[in-house]
Amino acid sequence: MKIVESTADIRERLKSHRGVSKIALAPTMGCLHEGHLSLIRKAREVADIIIVSIYVNPMQFGPNEDLDAYPHTFNADAAACEAEGVDYLFHPENLYAKGGPKVTLAVSELADCLCGKSRPGHFDGVATVVNILFNIIQPDVAVFGEKDWQQLSIIRRIVSDLHMPIEIAGAPTVRESDGLAMSSRNRYLESDERNVSKELRASLQAICDAYKDGETQASPLIASGRDWLEKHGIKPEYLEIREAANLASIDQLGGADARAFVAAKVGNARLIDNIALEPL
Ligand code: PAF
Repeated sequence: MKIVESTADIRERLKSHRGVSKIALAPTMGCLHEGHLSLIRKAREVADIIIVSIYVNPMQFGPNEDLDAYPHTFNADAAACEAEGVDYLFHPENLYAKGGPKVTLAVSELADCLCGKSRPGHFDGVATVVNILFNIIQPDVAVFGEKDWQQLSIIRRIVSDLHMPIEIAGAPTVRESDGLAMSSRNRYLESDERNVSKELRASLQAICDAYKDGETQASPLIASGRDWLEKHGIKPEYLEIREAANLASIDQLGGADARAFVAAKVGNARLIDNIALEPL
């Protein structure tokens, strides 16, 4: 595995692979866990040359968010990538023009709901950095986790709206044994918070079970999830059911694929999760 820090260098190295091998990119902000490793494995299933990028993107953090506290674990991350057979680890110091970017991507509608409501500008930051990474690496395929479903939907839309010849692959959420979705932010949880945080997934599962039992109206389903969270002392930032493909709100399930989405602050960690509610 080669660790590459400059844009010019990675571009030069990828020249010999283009048109010969399928190139996959798994963008990350480091602090890699099993969820990230599943992105790498998915990339390996669909491509020949695997690039992992590690870049903590300042543009996607709001002024009161955890940019400064965001964990940096580069040596462990590099060892994990090496063990997974990654070909190139792209680790740039900065991806933006000096003085900050003057040209950015703005995401509308898809970014106005769910996490976008409490994190204004977050998805513009994600879209801008992913666009930069796509321009540098020019992958054939890029892999993102389904835990960040809103992000995945937005990236699919970027690629389609901007006519980028890149296939976007989603990788299923990887969970701890009690169901908590893996996240770099789980390390902020104290042990009692860690214990209660599994209830996010359980609330989504309660919604899914009620749906499978025949409830197809969104509001009673959401109410059952809220009751579950309340019983465990969790006040959700949101708990919503939306169409899976375009995140449009939905009252009656059973037609288009839907998903239930939850976000809640547990201690200092803001946790998110989602679950599929497909037509039965
Ligand atoms: O999902 C993440 O880790 C980040 O949002 C991403 C896609 C690497 C962009 O910074």
